[in-house]
Amino acid sequence: MAARTIITTQVAIMGAGPAGLMLSHLLAKTGIESTVIEVRSHQDISETVRAGILEHGTVNLLVDSGVSDRVLREGDRHDGIELRFNGESHRVDFNDLVGEAVWLYPQTDVFLDLAARRKADGGDVRYSVTDTSVHNPEGKPVVHFTDAEGVEYELRADFVVGADGSRSQCRSLVPESARTRYFHEYPFAWFGILAEAPRSSDELIYANSANGFALISQRTETVQRMYFQCDPKENVQDWDDDRIWAEFRNRVNGNGFELNEGPVIDKMVLPFRSFVQAPMRYGNLFLVGDAAHTVPPTGAKGLNLAIHDVKVLFEGLDSHYNSRSGLLLDSYGDRALERVWKAQQFSYWMTTMLHTPADADDFSRARQLGELNSVVSSRHGLAYLAEAYTGWPSAT
Ligand code: PHB
Repeated sequence: MAARTIITTQVAIMGAGPAGLMLSHLLAKTGIESTVIEVRSHQDISETVRAGILEHGTVNLLVDSGVSDRVLREGDRHDGIELRFNGESHRVDFNDLVGEAVWLYPQTDVFLDLAARRKADGGDVRYSVTDTSVHNPEGKPVVHFTDAEGVEYELRADFVVGADGSRSQCRSLVPESARTRYFHEYPFAWFGILAEAPRSSDELIYANSANGFALISQRTETVQRMYFQCDPKENVQDWDDDRIWAEFRNRVNGNGFELNEGPVIDKMVLPFRSFVQAPMRYGNLFLVGDAAHTVPPTGAKGLNLAIHDVKVLFEGLDSHYNSRSGLLLDSYGDRALERVWKAQQFSYWMTTMLHTPADADDFSRARQLGELNSVVSSRHGLAYLAEAYTGWPSAT
């Protein structure tokens, strides 16, 4: 057997999703070397349909760090959302409440922009690798992998970063005795569709109804993204277009509002849960994004949290290499986790406030409407939602 080809770098990054690529990009700008390896192909990642809301802080980082300004040109700025319940819509005016906005710009486009920027800048990003394993995270980490041509490598680095998503291999490198895993399961999932139809609304509609939750989002002038709450064991084959549209009508239409309908071109069930693994550092291994935490999609926080982790980790690594101070790097986990738990709370709150469990009794349904009313009838309630949704100021 041929010996492994040895390569060295400063930071080995496991995963070329938005988090891994953004970290590699920021590091390169301050002269820190990284190698990114990814088991999926570039094409596979770019064809996966993901969520689409970016906080203003995420947009600023993409634009100000020179990744791309395409989000400003092609993304849609949203100054609010609608909460719909009891057949009525209530606008949450982000601009008025907190002076901020979000952008509808699918995660796939964030990936494409980052991948193109890393390529143009000569970044070392290797897709479609196999047989990955990480060794010695406590000391000087070594990563083994085989590239798409079948060449076996040994990658030696100062640090290894687990940006390898919700099925992270890296998170399991932290021994059980050194970590805590926090879980919360929900008794429902989302049925997501892409439909060929004109927009039904300029802004996102988060709809609560006695028949369950629905979310009306958009993609383009002619393709829309929508979800409805379903059973986690739901089978997409059982749902033809008529049945899907009847479900949406039951949850969203009413009082003069009607969704625009059209052919369903994609459908999927998205199970969800809340998860955190802490701490986010073990020796010279750092976890970022979904590798360390998962939130239900109701608060639109997943990608934004991952990018915030990366920003904080970058500041730590920059300070370690360029100012010879380890203090910021040592505080990475605590600084990142503070926002992670705020986002866990917000996502849990939005989820439980808007979804209706199948076994909800009259009390819980009436209490839920009381909760929704207390939010929309109070400037403080609305401002809490607006601040969390658009993104809290970054950790300092
Ligand atoms: C989406 O457009 O896919 C989307 C938007 C907001 C969410 C979740 C998903 O909270």
